Amino acid sequence: MTPMVEIRGLHKAYGDLKVLKGIDLTVERGQVICIIGPSGSGKSTLLRCVNLLETPTGGQVFVEGEELTHPDVDIDAARRKVGMVFQQFNLFPHLKVLDNVTIAQRRVLKRPKGEAERIARENLAKVGLEDKADSYPAQLSGGQQQRVAIARALAMNPDLMLFDEPTSALDPELVGDVLTVMRKLAQEGMTMLVVTHEMGFARDVADRVVFMDGGVIVEDGPPEQVIGAPRHERTKTFLRRVLDPTHAQEDDLDGAALPAEGA
Ligand SMILES: Nc1ncnc2c1ncn2[C@@H]1O[C@H](COP(=O)(O)OP(=O)(O)OP(=O)(O)O)[C@@H](O)[C@H]1O
Ligand SMILES: [Mg+2]
Repeated sequence: MTPMVEIRGLHKAYGDLKVLKGIDLTVERGQVICIIGPSGSGKSTLLRCVNLLETPTGGQVFVEGEELTHPDVDIDAARRKVGMVFQQFNLFPHLKVLDNVTIAQRRVLKRPKGEAERIARENLAKVGLEDKADSYPAQLSGGQQQRVAIARALAMNPDLMLFDEPTSALDPELVGDVLTVMRKLAQEGMTMLVVTHEMGFARDVADRVVFMDGGVIVEDGPPEQVIGAPRHERTKTFLRRVLDPTHAQEDDLDGAALPAEGA
């Protein structure tokens, strides 16, 4: 079967700064891939190349067999297959929750108001916020706002969901609700590419964990291997810092353990 995502030899540079240096990654339908790695390693850039928020400088990206990097691709149609959730929720502050979830459906998919609202309510229910349809974003907690952002993406019926550190901006006690929603989505068979520092989530939910450093994939395998028994020194160093921040300072004093420059 055609993979959901196929990335071949992907390069991205900003001027002289080479950010992605040859990424190969295949994601099968229904798989959850967690991407981990130090700040500046290119994780966000990689996700942004998968929905063409960034134009790669080399290589190819296919989504469901369609080459997004082909000059003749219908970018809008291709993007519609891909939902994205960011660290910052980017809700419209002046719109009620319901309208935040219907606006793209109506403008981009041209759904009639009634249908868009029905689909919005279904997806709000899915993230546990059916009773917040008439609230404004400022009346919600960060975790609730992020769940609205997830509902908004799901309402577009994506085949693939990209998450870029969806819980990093949240107070610790709000992280769990968002991860629960993501876990449920994964169980329902959604294909997901998730940049995260939540190692517990990665261990439990990911089919594969990808460790990036310096614009390359250093390690790619099942969570019990990449997180549980990493093979590469760089992965071990990173995990020590993430799993036990008290070691971070020791590592920082050791120049070799610092993330790649440009971070
Ligand atoms: N629009 C841009 N113009 C120039 N440089 C950029 C741009 N976007 C990203 N970069 C650089 O590319 C590198 C990789 O950035 P990226 O955001 O992909 O890293 P990341 O792994 O997501 O880091 P973090 O964990 O901090 O989010 C960084 O050095 C960053 O400064
Ligand atoms: Mg990032």
